[in-house]
Amino acid sequence: EKGGYEHYMLKEIHEQPTALRQTISGRIDEMNGEADLELDLPTEYLNSLEEVQFVACGTSYHAGLYAAKLFEEYADVRASAEIASEYEFDGGRDPWRTLVVAVTQSGETADTLSALQRAKRAGAKTLAVTNTLGSTVTREVEDTVFIRAGPEIGVAATKTFCSQVATLALLTVYVGRQRGTVSSSEARELLSDLRGLPGAVQQVLDREEQVRVAAEEYVDGDAFFFIGRRLGAPVALEGALKLKEISYDHAEGFPSGELKHGPLALVTPETPVLAVLTEGTNAEETLNNVKEVESRGAPVIGCVSEGMDDAGKFVDEVFEVPELGELEPLVANVYFQLFSYHVANLKGRSIDKPRNLAKSVTVE
Ligand code: M6R
Repeated sequence: EKGGYEHYMLKEIHEQPTALRQTISGRIDEMNGEADLELDLPTEYLNSLEEVQFVACGTSYHAGLYAAKLFEEYADVRASAEIASEYEFDGGRDPWRTLVVAVTQSGETADTLSALQRAKRAGAKTLAVTNTLGSTVTREVEDTVFIRAGPEIGVAATKTFCSQVATLALLTVYVGRQRGTVSSSEARELLSDLRGLPGAVQQVLDREEQVRVAAEEYVDGDAFFFIGRRLGAPVALEGALKLKEISYDHAEGFPSGELKHGPLALVTPETPVLAVLTEGTNAEETLNNVKEVESRGAPVIGCVSEGMDDAGKFVDEVFEVPELGELEPLVANVYFQLFSYHVANLKGRSIDKPRNLAKSVTVE
């Protein structure tokens, strides 16, 4: 049932190209530079939108952070990701001009469902982005976009994160085109990156052995820090969450610029730093942070774009990321998934069912 893999998590990491093909299938109209999502959101409504809020928890929250950045850029609308358990509909926002998008793999997360109730009570329009047909969230919202990743058994979300971000990128194009804030040629570029995503992820999967060897080298780290800027920041958070969740090691993710405001005190030769140095992440600036940690003796692993050979010179180990524009950080994340998996596996952890955790969290 695990298809020859030792754990569901590893199987699901390897299923990503297939999952992504399902996610995008029939949804890309490259000719017109449009995304076909069969949504029922009137153009007038989208034109009057002032704000989009993605409410979610854990990994889905990180997908929301990625999406918020894409939305601000392509749909020209204020966008944020909100941790569902902290969510309040306030701050003087106009419910008629606010779209609340619940991002939830299971569709059953209590914190997310209850945040959604607060948004609905205030009168906001609501959408769900989920993997689960017939889940509770689909009954609570006006419209749903399914991510079509297929069932995910491992507690750690892997393929569903990838498919969530891909779906949210499609939603960005959909909203941006309806609002007229993105040209068909710009949209075509993002759509063609989406088409290239399954192949790019496959290229990373083909380099798993390199990641396994790196995991062996760094497995004894005292703690692991993940850094990245812009679209690299949510990926840094996600990398750290995955590692701590399954290896029980101390791992933290930061927007690179925050390092010097405190976390740098934790950096030593025993704390490997994993950096996102791709397109879409202001890599030049993160390189300055890489130099800061290196001068404290920390080993650095960099996920580096093929096109940025220079960046590779500053790190101890390069994980090469194929060129894919704004989706490169999402591809870099696959290296982080594999790294976490192999560190946890070397430690003999219960990878598919980490201690204290459940696949879907139905209590607040
Ligand atoms: O089903 P959901 O997407 O709503 O779940 C949200 C989080 O509980 C979930 O992403 C959790 O953080 C994962 N175990 C992370 O791998």
